[in-house]
Amino acid sequence: MFLSPNVTKIEPSITLEIDARAKAMKAKGIDVISLSVGEPDFNTPRHICDAAIQAINDGFTHYTPATGIPELKKAVCDKFRRDNGLEYKPTQISINCGAKHSVFLAIYCLTCPGEEVIIPAPYWVSYPEMAKIAGGTPVIIEGSPETDLKVTADQVKNAITPKTKLIILNSPSNPTGMAYTEEELRALAEVIVDAGIYVISDEIYEKLVYDNVKHVSIGSFDKEIFNRTITINGVSKAYAMTGWRIGYTAGPEEIIKAMGTLQSQETSNPNSIAQKASIAALNGPEDSIAAMKEEYVKRREYIVNRLNAIDNVKCIKPEGAFYAFPDVSALYGKKYKGKVINGSFAFCEYMLESKNIAIVPGIGFGADNFVRISYATSMKNIETAMDRFESGVQALE
Ligand SMILES: Cc1ncc(COP(=O)(O)O)c(C=O)c1O
Repeated sequence: MFLSPNVTKIEPSITLEIDARAKAMKAKGIDVISLSVGEPDFNTPRHICDAAIQAINDGFTHYTPATGIPELKKAVCDKFRRDNGLEYKPTQISINCGAKHSVFLAIYCLTCPGEEVIIPAPYWVSYPEMAKIAGGTPVIIEGSPETDLKVTADQVKNAITPKTKLIILNSPSNPTGMAYTEEELRALAEVIVDAGIYVISDEIYEKLVYDNVKHVSIGSFDKEIFNRTITINGVSKAYAMTGWRIGYTAGPEEIIKAMGTLQSQETSNPNSIAQKASIAALNGPEDSIAAMKEEYVKRREYIVNRLNAIDNVKCIKPEGAFYAFPDVSALYGKKYKGKVINGSFAFCEYMLESKNIAIVPGIGFGADNFVRISYATSMKNIETAMDRFESGVQALE
């Protein structure tokens, strides 16, 4: 069958390939530990579930306005004002079916065919493919280890051409866990405003920052950058609500309106029950987040120390999210049973097949020297997985 280039131009997700293999091994009864998932291992807090049950009992089970119910938009406006110093009106808010959907809609509505989308690497796997779906050209710029895998304002400036439409920032980052400082963001904002491009700021890991790291929203500095920023967030990561599928976007009315038109023809509206649950999440107490963070901090400490104690493995300490992103490139060229480990995919394949741990190749994030290890799993799993990882590295010749 001849399929449309709309889809054949898109790369399948490398992370899903590893995940599918891990699941197939598990189905055969093999004791695989998965450190590949990007979702909290905690339950959605009780008060949020109760709000959803209440919505069902109240019969709130029908279509809603395409871009979400007014009550949730108000809760989102309040959240942006309270947490981020961002003053949005409800007409500048769109509720979407998960932040992934928000990112897609924003990229699709902004990018004209042939326009360039600047994407700092390491990047979240979906950004370049979404830019391609929109007919845009991803322009990848690489964060270096010297700048904690973040890009500098100069790098962005040098990547801008007359065809550049936007840049996608993700802080704290999946996969690196690193967060841009206020100073770095101010320098980036200056370049963005000077060039007259847009920025999509994906802030989905905002609540998961550790130590004294402060999350800063790039749109909060002044009117000029505010008018060029599309801020995206959601309830998945902060409130352990990945399955509820609610994300939200804030930005200039014209863009939000276009996103609403697209969404109305595409999905009608986000789930009505999940919208009610998200109101309870955004307006409710945050002690569950504090408890989750406490657990993530312990796991991060453990995993980073274990990784850095292994010869030829280097891991920067992530400031947020729930991923460690070690550099394993010093092991490339080594062999196991005659098979050469020639990159991150071969390394992860080896760890899965020989050591029964599923981790994600950095190549999927545009960084082949690295692998991504999620610590959104129990300490017991992490301990066993790290033992296996260490013995796996030591077995390479
Ligand atoms: C950087 C980043 N943005 C967006 C998302 C999407 O989140 P959601 O579950 O709300 O679609 C993810 C999920 O993995 C992510 O890592």
